[in-house]
Amino acid sequence: MDKRKVYIETYGCQMNEYDTELLYSILHKDGFDKTDSPENADVILINSCSVREGADNRAISRASQLIYLKNRRKGLRIGIVGCVAQRDKGNLLNKYKGIDIIVGPDSYRNLGKLLKNINGEPVIKTSLSKEETYDDILPFRQTAVSAYVSIMRGCDKFCSFCIVPFVRGRERSRNPENIINEIKKSVESGYREVILLGQNVNSYSYDRIRFPELLDMISDIAGVERIRFTSPHPRDVDDELLEVMRIKKNICKHIHLPIQSGSTRILKLMNRDYSKEEFLDLVDKVKSYIPEIAITTDIIVGFPTETEEDFLDTIDVMERVRFDSAFMFKYSPRPGTKASKMADDVPDSIKSRRLNEIIELQKEHTLLRNKEYIGKIETVLIESTGKKGKGELRGRTDSNKIVVIKDAYDCKIGDFIKVKIFDTAGVSLFGSAL
Ligand code: 5AD
Ligand code: SF4
Repeated sequence: MDKRKVYIETYGCQMNEYDTELLYSILHKDGFDKTDSPENADVILINSCSVREGADNRAISRASQLIYLKNRRKGLRIGIVGCVAQRDKGNLLNKYKGIDIIVGPDSYRNLGKLLKNINGEPVIKTSLSKEETYDDILPFRQTAVSAYVSIMRGCDKFCSFCIVPFVRGRERSRNPENIINEIKKSVESGYREVILLGQNVNSYSYDRIRFPELLDMISDIAGVERIRFTSPHPRDVDDELLEVMRIKKNICKHIHLPIQSGSTRILKLMNRDYSKEEFLDLVDKVKSYIPEIAITTDIIVGFPTETEEDFLDTIDVMERVRFDSAFMFKYSPRPGTKASKMADDVPDSIKSRRLNEIIELQKEHTLLRNKEYIGKIETVLIESTGKKGKGELRGRTDSNKIVVIKDAYDCKIGDFIKVKIFDTAGVSLFGSAL
C-alpha cells in the first residue's frame, strides 16, 4: 500500500518553519511522506501564526478554503497546528465543519497517532508543556543553504502586547550536547550556515551554559562557516555576548534588536524593561564592540494611548540609530494579553499614517546604510537563482544584506563567493562576482 501523504503550509516566524521540519520528521516515522501538493495529500496541516490578527485570519481562512478538497479525496484530514491552534483551543471546530484536528506547538510528538485514531470526532490537543523541546527529534530540513536549529522555546518576558507567552508557553532550553550534535549532522549533510532560533534566543540557559557560551561552543564546530540567531531581547544582550560576537569570525555581524517603541512611557506600558535612553546606550555599546555591525529592529505604532509625542520619540530613535532594516507593524490587540485590556484607542487612520511615515523613513535609512557598501568587497553566501534567470544569483552578506549578483556564471547555490558591490536599490545590494 502507498504511504499516506502529508502537506504542511507554514505561516509566521522561522520557529514555525523549523516546527514544520519537526512535523515532517515526526510524521515520517508514523508512515506519512511529504507532498508538495494539497491535492495529493491525505493530511493537510496549516502551521499557523497568531502574532497579529491579520496573520491569525490568514491561517484560518486558508484552512477553511482547503476543506473543499475533502469532496475530492476520501479520508482527507485537515488540521490547524501552531499558534492559532494553541490560542483557539478548538473553538474553530464549531465554526468550520471539516477541520479534523487542532494541535498546539507542544503536542506534536504524538500527532501521527492522533491522526490515525481520528474516527469522525475532531481531536483537540493544546496542553502546554514546561519541558517539551523536541530535543531528540532531527528535523526533516526544508531549506537549501541555512539550517534552522531551535535552541530554546517559549517566552517568560510577557510584553504586554504579545501573545507568544500564551501560545508558546514557558522558556525552556535544549541540552547543548544535542544542539551541537544536530549542528554537526547539518554540516555533514552540506549546510554551512546555521540559524539558531528561540522566541527569546539570548535567554538560553541550560545548567551553567548561557547563550554566549553556547555560541562560543557552536562557533568551534568544524565546517560551520556562518552562525546567525534570532530573535534576541535587548534586555538580555550583555558584554559576554558582544565579546563572543566580536571575537568569533563565523558569528555574523548582525543583530536584531526589537525596540518596539522609542517612547519610554510606551515602553513601560509594553513591559519592555528598558527606556529610550537605555536602548540608545545599548546600541552605542554594540557598535563599540563591533563598529561594522548591522542592526535591525521591530517597531509597533499605535499602541494604546500612543500620542504624537510618543511617536516622535520613535522617529527620534530611528534617526539616531539608522537601523539597517526594520519590520514595522500597526498595533493589533491579541486576546489574553495585558494590553488587550486597554482600549485600542489610536484610530486606524492614525496608525496607518504613522506606519507609512516610519516605512518611508526606514527606506531612507536602509538606502544610506546600504550605500556604505558601494565599492566594497563582500563575502556572499549564494541562496537562490535571481529573478532575471541566467547568470543572476541572490545571496547574503555576513551582515544579512541581500545581494543580487549579475554575472555569477560559475557559482552555485551554497557557494561562498567574493562580490564587489556597485549599486543598491530597495533592500538589495547589487554586485559583480570577482
Ligand atoms: N501587534 C503588533 N505587532 C506585534 N508584534 C508582536 N505582537 C504584536 C501585536 N500585538 C510584533 C513585534 C514583534 C514582532 C515579531 O511582531 O514587533 O517583535
Ligand atoms: Fe507567530 Fe509568534 Fe507563533 Fe512565531 S511564535 S508563529 S511569530 S505567534
